[in-house]
Amino acid sequence: MVTPEPVWAPAPLPANLPGAVEVAPGVHWIGAMDPTLRTFDIILRTANGTSYNAFLVRGDEGVAVVDTVKLEFAAEFFRRLESVADYAEIRVIVLNHLEPDHSGALPELMRRAPQARLYISTRATAMLKALLKPKATDRPLEYQTVGTGDEVSLGNRTLRFLHTPFLHWPDTQCTYLVEEGVLFSGDIFGCHYCDSRLFNDRVGDFRFSFDYYYAHIMRPFKAHVITALKLIEPLRLNLIAPTHGPILRDRPRRYVTHYRELSTSSLAERIGNEELSLCIFYMSAYGSTARMAEAVQAGAEEEPGVRVSLYDLAGGETAPFVDLIEEADAIVFGSPTINGDAVKPVWDLLSSLAVVNLQGKLGAAFGSFGWSGEAVRMIEDRMRGLKMRVPVAGLRIKLIPTDEELDACRDFGHGLALALLGEGAERVIEMADL
Ligand SMILES: Cc1cc2nc3c(=O)[nH]c(=O)nc-3n(C[C@H](O)[C@H](O)[C@H](O)COP(=O)(O)O)c2cc1C
Repeated sequence: MVTPEPVWAPAPLPANLPGAVEVAPGVHWIGAMDPTLRTFDIILRTANGTSYNAFLVRGDEGVAVVDTVKLEFAAEFFRRLESVADYAEIRVIVLNHLEPDHSGALPELMRRAPQARLYISTRATAMLKALLKPKATDRPLEYQTVGTGDEVSLGNRTLRFLHTPFLHWPDTQCTYLVEEGVLFSGDIFGCHYCDSRLFNDRVGDFRFSFDYYYAHIMRPFKAHVITALKLIEPLRLNLIAPTHGPILRDRPRRYVTHYRELSTSSLAERIGNEELSLCIFYMSAYGSTARMAEAVQAGAEEEPGVRVSLYDLAGGETAPFVDLIEEADAIVFGSPTINGDAVKPVWDLLSSLAVVNLQGKLGAAFGSFGWSGEAVRMIEDRMRGLKMRVPVAGLRIKLIPTDEELDACRDFGHGLALALLGEGAERVIEMADL
C-alpha cells in the first residue's frame, strides 16, 4: 500500500477498539472512539463519551471517504482508512457538514489524497474558507458544491446528496448510497454514546442519549427537521450511519419515525387548531404581580379563540415550562423588580429558551415595582433577543395595584389576545419611554 509520509506518527489503536468495520457491503466504518469525553460542545454531558463516525465507500471506479474526525483523533482515522484503501484510490471526499469534530482531519486527508475531489453543500463554501483559512499564497481550494438530487458516481456505486440545512449547522447535508440504501446522515439520528460494539442492535441501551441529543442539538431546528424528513422518509433505508453514536442497522426507520414524533407539535392535538394558546408566567413576593397576573389572564380570556394558562414560577421546574412555551403562541412574563432586575426564576426560564425556536411568537411583560422598575423592559429586551414579537408595550404598576390599575391589567391582557388574533392596534411608542 502506498502511504505518503505521515505528518505525525500514527498511534497504535488501543486493543479494546475495533479496526475498520464493514457496516454494509463495501462500506467501512473508519471513524474514531472518544470513550472518556464527559462534556461535548460545552453544553452536552456525555456519560458514555462519543464517537466520530467516518465511512469509506468502495466502488469499482474509485473510493469515497464520507466525513472525517476531530483533529486529535486523526491518527486513529488514518490507521483505519489505510487498512482498507490506498490514498491513491480516493476519488471523492464528502463532508456532510464542516463542524470541527468532523472536518478536523480534512486538511491532512486532502494533502494525502490530492487527486480526490471534495464535495460539500452549497452553503458550505464560506464555512470551508473560514475553517481552513487559506493564505493568499496557498493553492486555491478546490471543491464541488452539491444540492438535493446531485450525484457522484463511483462506477457501480452512486452517492446522492440531500440538502438538509441547519441540522444542526447551516451547511448540513446528508449523503445517500443509492445501491445499498445507506444514509450517511451527519449529525441527524446521531447521539453521544461511545460503544465499540458499534451497531444499534449490539450496543447498550442508548435511548436516553438519543433523546438528549435531539433535545439539545436538533430541537431548536424542528422546522428544518420536518423539511429534511420529507426528503428522507421516501428513501429505502437499510442502514443509517450518523456521525456520532451507534450505526442504525436494526429497523432504522424507527429512528426516522421517532424524529417525526419529536418534531411534531402535540398541543394542536389537545386544544385543536381553532384555539391559540397564551401562557402567563409570573413570580411575586408580596402578591402585587400575582394580582396583576390574574387580571391579565381575565382580560385575555375575554377574547374567544384564545386559551389562557397561568403559572406561578415559584411552584415549577424550568424544563416542563420550556415544553409549554415551545408550543404556545404567546408568552407573557410577570416579574417584580428586585435589586434593579427581574427575578432569577424568570431569567432561568428565559435562558433555557435557547433550545427552542420562538421566532415570531408574541411576547409581553408586566410587573409591580417600587422605585426604579427595570424588570419589565429587561424581559422585553430578552424576548426581542429571542426574535419574538413584542407588539404591546409592557405594563408596570407601582407597588400595590388599585382597582383602576387592575382594570388596566385586564385591558393589557385583552390587548394581547387581540394582537395574538391579529386584531390589535399597532404598538404605541411613548416618546417619554425612549
Ligand atoms: C429585596 C427587594 C429589593 C427590591 N429592589 C427594588 C428595585 O431595585 N427597584 C424597584 O423598583 N423596586 C424594588 N423593590 C420593590 C418591589 O419591586 C416592590 O415591592 C414590588 O411591589 C413587589 O412586587 P410583588 O408584590 O409582586 O413581589 C424591591 C423589593 C425587595 C423586597
